[in-house]
Order: sequence, then structure tokens, then C-alpha cells
Amino acid sequence: MAQQEIFPYASQDVQEVAGLVRGLEASAKRGPGAPKKSFTCKKSTFVIAGTDGVTVDSWRFNDWDYKKPDLPTYARGLFTFRTKKGKPEIAIRGYDKFFNTDEVTKTAWSNIQKNTRGPYELTTKENGCIIFISGLPDDKLLVCSKHSTGARSDIAASHAIVGERWVDRQLQALGRTREDLARELRRRNATAVAELCDDSFEEHVLAYVGDCAGLYLHGLNLNLPEFATYPGLLVHKFADEWGFKKVEYLIKDNVQDVQAFLEGVAETGAWQDKEIEGFVIRCQARDGEGEPWHDWFFKYKFEEPYLMYRQWREATKAVIGGRAPIYKKHKKITDEYLMYARRQLASDRTLGAKFNQNQGIIAMRNGFLRERGLTGAGIIQMENEQGGGGPAEVTKDVLLVFVATIGCGKTTVAVALQKLFGWSVIQNDNIEGKKARSQRFVGEISTAFLAGSPVVIADRNNHQKRERKQLIEDIRKSVPRATIVAIHFVHEQPGVSRQECQERIRQTTRDRVFSRGDNHQTIQASTRSQAEVVGIMEGFLHRFEAVDVLTIPDEWFNAVIDLDPTAPSRENLETVVSRLHALYPKLFGDMPTGDDMDEVIESILRDYKPALNQTFFSSSKKDNKSTQKSMKLTQNLRSSKPPKIDYFCIRLPTNPILSVLDSHFRTQDAMTQRFYRQLQQSRRIQPSFHVTIIHRANSKEFPDVWERFNAMQTSALSAINDANTDNSRLDPELETCRVVLERVVWDARVMTIVARLLDAQEKGLGTTNEIAHITVGTANQSIRPKESNDILHNWLSGGSGEATGIYELEIKGNVVIDGSVRGVLQQHN
Ligand code: GTP
Ligand code: MG
Repeated sequence: MAQQEIFPYASQDVQEVAGLVRGLEASAKRGPGAPKKSFTCKKSTFVIAGTDGVTVDSWRFNDWDYKKPDLPTYARGLFTFRTKKGKPEIAIRGYDKFFNTDEVTKTAWSNIQKNTRGPYELTTKENGCIIFISGLPDDKLLVCSKHSTGARSDIAASHAIVGERWVDRQLQALGRTREDLARELRRRNATAVAELCDDSFEEHVLAYVGDCAGLYLHGLNLNLPEFATYPGLLVHKFADEWGFKKVEYLIKDNVQDVQAFLEGVAETGAWQDKEIEGFVIRCQARDGEGEPWHDWFFKYKFEEPYLMYRQWREATKAVIGGRAPIYKKHKKITDEYLMYARRQLASDRTLGAKFNQNQGIIAMRNGFLRERGLTGAGIIQMENEQGGGGPAEVTKDVLLVFVATIGCGKTTVAVALQKLFGWSVIQNDNIEGKKARSQRFVGEISTAFLAGSPVVIADRNNHQKRERKQLIEDIRKSVPRATIVAIHFVHEQPGVSRQECQERIRQTTRDRVFSRGDNHQTIQASTRSQAEVVGIMEGFLHRFEAVDVLTIPDEWFNAVIDLDPTAPSRENLETVVSRLHALYPKLFGDMPTGDDMDEVIESILRDYKPALNQTFFSSSKKDNKSTQKSMKLTQNLRSSKPPKIDYFCIRLPTNPILSVLDSHFRTQDAMTQRFYRQLQQSRRIQPSFHVTIIHRANSKEFPDVWERFNAMQTSALSAINDANTDNSRLDPELETCRVVLERVVWDARVMTIVARLLDAQEKGLGTTNEIAHITVGTANQSIRPKESNDILHNWLSGGSGEATGIYELEIKGNVVIDGSVRGVLQQHN
């Protein structure tokens, strides 16, 4: 089948463009008689060199006007001209103005989540100046900077001239001419958008010298009033064909991944060892539910506390180099940090050299924050609110979140605080049943705040980051002003091995739990077998993830109070109360006396009994006969057969594959498109995609493979085994694998993509099928996806074409997709 060139295309509509120009003219009118409007447009006219007086008009609004709702266009960088016949045309079309997250309503994360769709293409913000290139009639190439073109004495115009020189240079290297490029861009009705990065001309913060200098193509826009832009793949292709440098981009399938990725990069401030300002994210958006999708960009800029961390890093390097550190922002805390850093550098002479090689930066920061019990976010909040509403003013809405394992003394400390101050304690162990436990836990906390408790204590282990993330995220939704403090039972000590630390904790907590006996809602130590209780406790110890204030979610804590699990609860109580008093002096009146604290702890150790008993696996209501409960537990454990695995596969994100199919089929002839369109229209494209590794049906033929993946599944499940969750239906990631999409192959019954597994050898992955593939869809329900195997077998032996009834289409551009190896459960189980 002949390969056709693929690119998005639409021609200009004279009426539509005329309407746009009329709107712009009206906005540009000033003085008496001009219509009243909230914005003004600046029109500048340029004569194109080398023509007999052809002019182009540039239209620009003030930056702040782009936030207004009724502009005639949001294109930043827009040039129009009139053809010889007097028809108005768009010559250059920049991107629609895009905003930072949370800068306008549309870029609030909640709206981004609701009203955008992938694939999301992420590019780092390049650091030069923007250049637009397009083709005018008579093969005349037009090169512009944001708002001007040609040789004028001002800087902006000279950008365009330098850009033009780079275009000449790259065309010459390819043996092509300006006319060639002009013709091609005009044929596509497109503007090439590139970043001019050339330090010999103008220095920017980031260095672009030697081979790095040049024009970095980052987009191709259709010259239309509405914003429409090429996918990254095709931008790269064009860049290759015309000698531009390329801007790397990453694809993320869904908005959660985008957000997690950006927040992760913000954490370190660097990505791929490059200092970057932020990312531009390209995707599609709609104005609301049911509205059409259109191309849309937004920005993510690194902000505080990351800029403060950067400042700390630079200041530390200055200290190491014997220079005086210079900094203006975050002065007080940076002074304090540097005192700490100097101490560390003096105590270990090797630290400085490592730090200069970018090692130990986070550890240094972490050490300081930990020593101070502060978080970056907490510092910024404190700084922002100094003089009003800061921590000094906190009087209510404080949530204390334990991070602990079983028997650390959470309930003892919590109940003591309740007795001393009347604060609410929400015990996770009192929440019955296993459905939606987390939501109900958060619900009860919010209710306690609503009921007027100034402090609420979340009595749960929260020993894993995911629990803390969920808890903090949910609380932030219901009580946005909450000050959240971690009460961290520290499980590791500097200079002591993890094993030794755990052993000490094990001794203390086991002693406590076994002498507590049945006096607990879920862990009835006298009734259950000792091994069972030890097993549950060990699970928590193994899974324990310490608070790390420099990673999500722990950076969201406003403060962290460290406790020692092996210390008496009396001592821990005093630590909590005195630290809270220091952090939030208005939260409660005077410090309780030592006698008060002695007394409450003694009475709790003597008399405290939890309100109800329950077992984790029981869904029945209150029942105090714990022996019966325990029997029920054992029965439940025995009867709950794990669901069977149907097959193991490499699960792939849906949107990137759909978009690859779409961009490849879009410009094919009708014949080639036919089966693809049929699948689309009859909704027979698979809702999700995967490469099968092994199916249960082949397990006898390949017992080793089947066993191996089953073992991986069992071990992954036991790693997330949590006494509080029913994990039998979880599908943990067993491995990751990158998958290359090579070609689409189809007949009248099934369409499939031939795939190549990039990490197969290294990770011991593969498929028991003849060819690794992704079934796209089948013509009807009666055709099973496994028919892909048959068609691929026939394709291998007989090839494609009329004679075989099998067709193929090569996938261009080396499309690599991140896949996730998973076990898929049988549906009917
Ligand atoms: P789980 O709810 O099982 O995760 O435990 P927890 O962290 O809530 O611990 P809890 O406060 O229930 O303490 C465990 C047992 O140790 C209880 O029986 C307490 O009475 C007892 N205990 C707590 N602190 C101390 C202490 O300082 N000394 C002694 N001797 N016993 C303590
Ligand atoms: Mg407890």
C-alpha cells in the first residue's frame, strides 16, 4: 500500500478571516468615535523586504487582556495580509495565549482534571525567543518574531533577522531554498513556531552555544482563527525534514500522571540534570461538559518552596567554595539552614565535594527540616502569613495525624490529649466493616471539626504514604484551612541499623500488645494465635514508610513532631504537648502540669478500654464475644479463595494508542481507512489495550512462564497486604516494559498492532504468542481478540495485499509507550 504523507490540514475561509480582521480593526480603533471596549489591540504594519511593497499587519493585545473573555482572537503572534486580489489571509498564527496552573479559572487543577483530555504532551520551557515562519504567495518566506518582522533597529525586529539567518543556514545544509520551505508551509496552511536559542546573539539564563544554538521547532499551527496545532510526532518529523532542532517532549496519558509528574519534578527542581523553569503541557480542552474539544496549552512553573530549595542549594555551594552566599528572599530561614549546613560540612569533610557534584543536596535539606520539625510548605506559609493568620495565630482546625505501627501507643497518647483538652479522637479501629473505610474515617474527622473540636486526632497508623496522601487530600477538600501535623513515631535512628531499630521497637510493642490481651477492637492478642498477631504486627513494620518532608505527600504536613516508639507514652505525651505549644501558642492555654500528665497516663494504662470490638474481615455489627469473632475470622480467611488470573499482559495507556491510530489513518485514502472507521463507528475498538504475555489457556504449554508470573503476582500482593484491606482483587504492577508500535495489520475481521518489547531481554519479559501484538478491535462480538494471532501468522507467511486480504500500515516516528505488566483476573470470578 502506498504510503501517503500525513498532516492535519484545513484551508482558510475567506469570510471567517475577513470577520476576524474586522474585529481586530475595531479593537485597534482609538480616539473619538471608537467603539467602547475593555481592551485595545495594537496594529503594526511591516513592508516585506524583497517585494514590491507587500505589507503584513501584526496584531497584539496587552498581556493582561488575554484573560478577558471576549477578544476577537487569543493568538499570541498574529499577522495578516491581503492577497493581490484583496482577499484577507492569515500569514502567521501563534499559539493561543496560555497560562500557568491556577493563574486563571480554566487552569485550576480541578478544571484541568474535568475539562481536558490526553494525550498530554509535555515540553520543557525553552529559553530563547519565539520565531514564526510561514509561506506567502509567490514562494516568499516570512520570518517574524512575536510581533514584528524585517530589519528595523529595535531588538524585536532583529530577532527576526537572526532567525532568518538560521533558516538560511539550515536550508543550505540540506541543499534546499527559502522558496522550498515557503511553498511547503503554504501547502500546509501552517506556521512553523520555533525558539531561537543563540547565545552569540543574546544571552539567556540557560546556555546555548556551539552545536546547541539554532532554531528549535516546537510547533506547527494551522493558519486559522481557531487554534489548531500539530501533534508532537509530526512536529518532529517536519523538524527532521527541514533541518530544525527538535524539542523533546514526553507523553502522559492521563491528567493524574501529568500532575504527579510535574509535582515530582518540582520536588527536585531539576529534570534530566537540566535546570528548567517549568513545562508547557499540550492537550485538548473543552469549555464545559458536552462542548467540543479543541487544542489547548497550559504552563506549569516551579514555585515555592522549590525556589527556596534552589536558593539553599546555591548558597551551600557558595559556602563550600569559600564565597559569601548572596540571597534576598527567605532570609531568616536561609540563615538558619546555612548554619545547619555549615555544621554538617564541618563534621564530614567529604560532604562538600559530593554536594558540588549534586549529591546529598536533598539529604542536607531534609536533615535541616527534620531537625526543625518543619516542612517547606510550612515555612512558606509561615512567611506569607507573618503578621497575621500565621502559625502564631492558629487556634483551631488542627489535625494530628499519627504515623506509626501497631502498639506504639497512639491510642494512649490520643486519649490522654482528649482527657487533657477535650479534643476529639477518631479511631480507625472503631469504624466497622470494610467498605469505604477511608472515606468514612475522613468523614468522621470533618464532622468532629464541624462539631467544634479545635484539634482532631486521627488515630490510625498512616504508615504508608498512600494512606497519608489520601487522608491529607481528602481533609484539604472538606476542611481547607486545616493545619495538619504529623505525629511521627520514628522507626530509624542515625547510626543504628534499620534491623536493630526494628528489633527494639518489636520488643516494646509486642510486650505491650500481648499484655493488652483482648483489650483492643481488632487485635485481640489473647484470642488470636500469637503467630497471627505477630504476623499482623510484622506486616506493619515492614511496610512502614517514614515521614519524609521533602516528598509528596509528607511535604503537605505543616509540621512534624517526632516521637520514640520505645519511650513511655508519658514522655511522648509531653513531647507532643510542648511542641504544639511552641508551634501554636494560641491553640490552648497554659501547659498542663507534670502531675496532670502523670495522672491521665496512669488512668489510661489502668482503666482504658476501647468502645467496641470487631474483626477486620467481619461485616456484621457489634459483637463482644471475641472468641466467636475470631472463629469467624479464620473461617473467612479459609473460604475466601483468591480469584483466578485469566492472563498476564503489558497494560498500555489508551489515549496515546488512539491518537497514533488516528494520526496515521486520518490522511489515508478511503479504502485504507475503511475498516478502521468501521471499527470506530460500530464502537468495536477495544476500550483498553494490552500486549498479552501469557494466557491461562497456554499455561499447560508454558508452565514455567505461567508459574513465574504467578509467583510475581503473589509476591506483589503480599507486599501490599494490609490487614485493613481486602487485597484479593488488587492488580499490582509486576514490572514495567516499554513497547514500540511498529505497524498496523488488519483484514476484514480484526485489526492489530505489531509491537516490539523494548525491555524484554533485560527484564525477562516476552510473549508466548508468535508475535507480540496489541489487538485494536474486531468486526463483531463473535470474533475473539485472539484471532489477531491467526491473522499475524498468515501475514508472516503470505504478506499483505489484495491477494491475501491482509493490509498493513507502518507506524512512523518510533512511537514508544510505557506499559505496565499486570495480572488480569477472570471476569466471572
Ligand atoms: P494499635 O491500636 O494496636 O495499633 O496500638 P496503639 O498504637 O494504639 O497502642 P496503645 O496505645 O493501644 O498501646 C498498646 C498497649 O500498650 C496498651 O495496652 C497500652 O495500655 C500499653 N501502653 C501504652 N503506653 C505504655 C507505656 O508507656 N507503658 C506501658 N507499660 N504500657 C503502655
Ligand atoms: Mg490504638
